[in-house]
Amino acid sequence: MRVKLAAGNWKMNGTRADLAQLAAMQEATGKAEILICPPSPLISAAAEAAGQIAIGGQDCHANTSGAHTGDISAVMLKDAGASHVILGHSERRSDHGESDADVRAKCVAAWDAGLKSIVCVGETLDQREAHNTLDIIGGQLAGSIPDAATGHNLVVAYEPVWAIGTGKIPTLDQIGEVHDFMRVKLEQRFGEGVGRSVRLLYGGSVKPGNAAEIFGVSNVDGALVGGASLKAADFVLIITALNAS
Ligand code: 13P
Repeated sequence: MRVKLAAGNWKMNGTRADLAQLAAMQEATGKAEILICPPSPLISAAAEAAGQIAIGGQDCHANTSGAHTGDISAVMLKDAGASHVILGHSERRSDHGESDADVRAKCVAAWDAGLKSIVCVGETLDQREAHNTLDIIGGQLAGSIPDAATGHNLVVAYEPVWAIGTGKIPTLDQIGEVHDFMRVKLEQRFGEGVGRSVRLLYGGSVKPGNAAEIFGVSNVDGALVGGASLKAADFVLIITALNAS
């Protein structure tokens, strides 16, 4: 049985005043796990305020330490109180030119530091319109996930690039097609036991109004939520829908 996961990616939003949202999110605690990934400067304070909520980073460097100005290592995230890290988000891939190989190296570093990684994959609108979605997702899974994956250390998030922050989501059939495909790919590569235990999140314009129907799709084990995770009032409704699914 895969434990459902409601993950919030705050991206480059939030200051210490916003940590009050974490307390308000606690009221939705139920059978689903809750994770918030705030910007790095907030991780330490967030971990102290988080209670039942897990705290994660949004990226890490592949090296443990060294001359990498502005970067943060997985060891540092762990030391600050994080248990998870998002890797290969499309905004990292496009803003920072991260390749699948970069994401894979970061994922190894995260696991070495004892963090669980949420590896993001997703197609652009051009790629979907060219009917390349499954090829793209298959390639990203193969290239971004290291060989030592387990249901404990890996979560995969399917985030169509064109659905992020746009208010557009794929049809439920399209979400199901990709999630079923990812499940098969993981089972083929890692074996049925591991392949079935990795949680698959959908991300991209998840809101209180569409969460329940998305959570009804096969092989959707939760969500990676951007904008609607910033305010507890919205995120609580999404968590509640996941608890009920
Ligand atoms: P939105 O929920 O704001 O579309 O963002 C999704 C996302 O990119 C989460 O990582």
